[in-house]
Amino acid sequence: MSENIEQDKVPDGWSADLSVGVDIIDEDHQAFFRLAGLLRDVIEGPEEGNDYLIETAINVLEEYVEGHFLREEMAMAAVNYPYLAEHLAAHEAFAAKAHQIAQDYRNGNKDIAATMSGLVERWLVGHIQTIDKQYSGYLTNDNVDSRPLIYLSDEDGNELEV
Ligand SMILES: [Fe+2]
Repeated sequence: MSENIEQDKVPDGWSADLSVGVDIIDEDHQAFFRLAGLLRDVIEGPEEGNDYLIETAINVLEEYVEGHFLREEMAMAAVNYPYLAEHLAAHEAFAAKAHQIAQDYRNGNKDIAATMSGLVERWLVGHIQTIDKQYSGYLTNDNVDSRPLIYLSDEDGNELEV
């Protein structure tokens, strides 16, 4: 439950005014900020052996983007959310950008990793404040699947198209 999280455990970038009123989605968003912070810590850490850690952090972040978006999208589709198409387009645009950065990094542009954590944090704050907040009231603790993301990704037929 997000309200039980102690103040010192709330990741930088997330605050109660970013709550969308659905506990599991708030928790996903907090995890998102933690992952972006982790990536930044790894990038700013000692250089030796750093590539492997950065690559891992980027991989986890990419997977997380997919899983979290799926959670929101499945819930919105299930309640016939009227702004679903707009929301899917916003997710898709961000996922494409994050994927491009990850690919550039893997292709040898090591400096680009530094842009990833900032991109995630800035995008996330803007996205939550505008697009995500719109589904408050439509999505609730009762109609959003709160299982770990891996279970959502394993289901068939859950690909949503814009
Ligand atoms: Fe969203």
